[in-house]
Amino acid sequence: MAKLIAGNWKMHGLSAEAAALASALKEGASPVAGVRAELLVCPPFTALATVGAVLRDSPIALGAQDCHPAPSGAHTGDVSAPMLKDLGARFVILGHSERRTGHGESDALVRAKVASAIAAGLIPIVCVGESLAEREAGREEAVVSAQLAASLSDDFAAACGTVAYEPVWAIGTGRTPTAQQIAAMHALIRAGLAARFGAAGGDPLILYGGSVKPDNAASILALPEVGGALVGGASLVAADFLAIAAAA
Ligand code: PGA
Repeated sequence: MAKLIAGNWKMHGLSAEAAALASALKEGASPVAGVRAELLVCPPFTALATVGAVLRDSPIALGAQDCHPAPSGAHTGDVSAPMLKDLGARFVILGHSERRTGHGESDALVRAKVASAIAAGLIPIVCVGESLAEREAGREEAVVSAQLAASLSDDFAAACGTVAYEPVWAIGTGRTPTAQQIAAMHALIRAGLAARFGAAGGDPLILYGGSVKPDNAASILALPEVGGALVGGASLVAADFLAIAAAA
């Protein structure tokens, strides 16, 4: 199965920059996209329409970085899952640690967003991961298991939902877990999904995220437990993102 290489652009990219990055990815993607890897980019809300127009008829999928749990309503400043679908998004990242910490998002809220995304026909990519203090205390497995149990809606597996293991201490820091640590956590997540969803879970895609770069991508993506990567900083440089995809 091709690995999924997802770019999380975070709060980067005015419209001209976003269009230029999307064009460079579209031009460079053909040797890898769909063959070695499925490619996905998740620009900020404000660039979704622009990037979606550039990527139309390309093998690169479009996704967003968050959604509100309600399909519409009096929620000033929020964006709903049907609105993302309407713009051509296929995926949405939910429960990223920057939203869990920066916006106080609870597992229950993430779960409600997951349900809303699925109802709108989007594929959720749900982020889980421990902080450095939690890993140093030996609590990483308990933390990730608890996040997983409480952040996924019951229809998650049937909707082909994806989990991204992103240790908070590896995001944007240049630090990554060892191959053994990544493999162990992915195995734990897979076992948790199998226990909850059984056969309905099929063979779920579990991504690794946190300081994935061209020089470490091959070793991370070679792990059989790893179904792809969620890439932050390196997804803002077309050559780096394409090099990561080529390493899949
Ligand atoms: P990073 O971010 O690749 O810059 O560490 C990953 C993420 O936050 O999804």
